[in-house]
Amino acid sequence: MGSYGMLARRALLTENPVMVQIQELIRGVKDCVSLAQGVVYWQPPKKALEKVQELVWEPSISRYGADEGLPELREALLRDENKLHKSSVMVTAGANQAFVNIVLTLCDAGDSVVMFAPYYFNSYMSFQMTGVTNILVGPGDPKTLHPDAEWLERTLRDTKPTPKLVTVVNPGNPSGTYIPQPLLQRISDICKNAGCWLVVDNTYEYFMYDGRKHVCVEDNHIVNIFSFSKAYGMMGWRVGYIAYPSEVEGLAAQLLKVQDNIPICASIISQHLALHSLEMGSNWVTEQVKDLIKNRELVLDALSPLGKDAVKGGEGAIYLWAKLPDGYHDDFEVVRWLARKHGVVLIPGCSSGCPGHVRISFGGLVEDQCRVATERLKRGFEQLVNEGMVP
Ligand SMILES: Cc1ncc(COP(=O)(O)O)c(C=O)c1O
Repeated sequence: MGSYGMLARRALLTENPVMVQIQELIRGVKDCVSLAQGVVYWQPPKKALEKVQELVWEPSISRYGADEGLPELREALLRDENKLHKSSVMVTAGANQAFVNIVLTLCDAGDSVVMFAPYYFNSYMSFQMTGVTNILVGPGDPKTLHPDAEWLERTLRDTKPTPKLVTVVNPGNPSGTYIPQPLLQRISDICKNAGCWLVVDNTYEYFMYDGRKHVCVEDNHIVNIFSFSKAYGMMGWRVGYIAYPSEVEGLAAQLLKVQDNIPICASIISQHLALHSLEMGSNWVTEQVKDLIKNRELVLDALSPLGKDAVKGGEGAIYLWAKLPDGYHDDFEVVRWLARKHGVVLIPGCSSGCPGHVRISFGGLVEDQCRVATERLKRGFEQLVNEGMVP
């Protein structure tokens, strides 16, 4: 025992989590500000927190609950949110666990699946660690980063056996790109015609800018994933949910097997907080999100030394996506240099399948801190462009 050879290839062959590497980097740098992690700076609604404070002594809080989630929360989610009329809900310990549930329920080891670059690194890892290692990564439009529907149609037609599942994040992580409704519908139609699942991660459904409105698609080949983490500032409470088609025979039963063996149920107190947060209404969330517009402007200004064409996304979510100047293919090296030389941290694009790029998050800092971070970032990029990575 104790030998590396005794560890599962499933785990060994999975990428290292980029956030863990970035946290290590941050620990090693004095006075570092982070535009790296995908978080928001706010806490859950005060009223909702006060209500759960009273609930802690209630015996049911300390017991297991129904695997699928608190009935009153599930009902509220179907009634109030997203107008998904043909779906059932399973509450999970966050959207990441929701995704793992879905992969374990829909995919067998050896199946092929489809994602689009730049992709969400945790989804990629979820495939890898469940043996779904034939991951076909499709291109985005060079200007908009929208998934290339023509490529998808060709790939689903020509790949045998047909890929099992296509997944998109809307609006996107790491790019913040929003897939407009007609394109999302087209992707859905292509999947349906090919007999392939479509999994849409709607973690940032309320994070939409410039008058855009988030829309979900629903059908018997579609599974939608949602999260309370960002919208209600509930990252540490771990609540998300799956909305899956009610009419598909056996799906609920198979999902339950997975759920019963991972969390059994999402934390009960957290589900109560989610329910009370929902009672505040989605307006509460959009009010918080409005404040991020200023942060996004600050980041856009910090990215200006890279040139206008280098910057993409930011239509939704909490991210902008930027191409580094030619010659900087090793984006992790640039990220380390920015941290050590300029005291600001980003996420390297290689973790999303796109070396030579970086992801910048504008959700985690209040405006004053964001200003500090973006001033450093702008100085860093000016130096990178004019002088290179001077030590
Ligand atoms: C697209 C996407 N999905 C899922 C998650 C994970 O969310 P949760 O905290 O609900 O697990 C994140 C978090 O960054 C995300 O960006």
